[in-house]
Amino acid sequence: MKHQNIVILGTGGTIAGRAASASDNIGYTAAQVGIDQLLAVIPALADAGPVITEQVAQIDSKDMSFAVWAQLAGRVNHFLARPDVQGIVITHGTDTLEETAYFLQAVCKPAKPVVLTCAMRPATALVPDGPQNLLDAMAVARHAGAKGVVAVCAGTIHSALDVQKVHTYKLDAFSSGDAGPIGYVEEGFVRLLRNWPLAQEGRYPIAMKNIATLADIADWPRVEIVMNHAGASGAVVEALLTQGVQGLVVAATGNGTLHHALEAALLKAQAAGVKVVRATRCLNGRVLPKPDDTLPDSKGLSPVKARVDLMLRLLG
Ligand code: SIN
Repeated sequence: MKHQNIVILGTGGTIAGRAASASDNIGYTAAQVGIDQLLAVIPALADAGPVITEQVAQIDSKDMSFAVWAQLAGRVNHFLARPDVQGIVITHGTDTLEETAYFLQAVCKPAKPVVLTCAMRPATALVPDGPQNLLDAMAVARHAGAKGVVAVCAGTIHSALDVQKVHTYKLDAFSSGDAGPIGYVEEGFVRLLRNWPLAQEGRYPIAMKNIATLADIADWPRVEIVMNHAGASGAVVEALLTQGVQGLVVAATGNGTLHHALEAALLKAQAAGVKVVRATRCLNGRVLPKPDDTLPDSKGLSPVKARVDLMLRLLG
């Protein structure tokens, strides 16, 4: 059977990282190796069908910017529209991968697979994990019926909605929390456990007509994350109010609870017209809504994803 193209977009990250010594897995510089060089060392890709490659960015994902997001979403939309393209693989740093995944699902709503992959060890490592992750991502992009934005790492397929980086250095660094993974990639075969992300899910309300016009940070609404913790106060919220913040996500404790001083400041901000959303700083579970809630919950989104969601809603 003749394969359609898989587009592989490079954005940098540890998967493209370089260290001075092959035994150094942490003292490296991310985003050094070009996407074509990364693919050149994976002979098995020769059997994976035709690919089109493009270097969209070359950054450490801790430095992810709206400009790169705008550029990336533009290229994703461009290639998704091509009938000769079956799916897209994106190489990305692990640190903000979950935010990019959520952003792309929200704005591109892909009916084809868009698979983010990454590595925890640099390309120069004695035993790098990037090549296997890339092969696994290709298997997902080639899988019949695959759709939506997913992340593939350490043989596990995570939905853009649920994926979260949960470990600082282990190769299996991501979790889908309570929801569990979408499936696994086992020796090139996809074993599905649940549905792909839904293209038109109601929680992605934003239709962004022209993402490319939103390349400047000043084009985006200012939304900040504040955290509840022992001894919290309203000081950070007060300071942000004076700077004209438009949205606040609070990483609340437990089931959305807030120190009374922080809660008072957030209620004041809400009364002043700032959109406030309560997420939880707990890794698992979600803030369960109650009828008398005065501050809305994040509908299961983690603080960083709730921030992306709120920015998009404010834009919408
Ligand atoms: C990055 O996020 O770009 C660096 C860290 C990583 O990819 O693991």
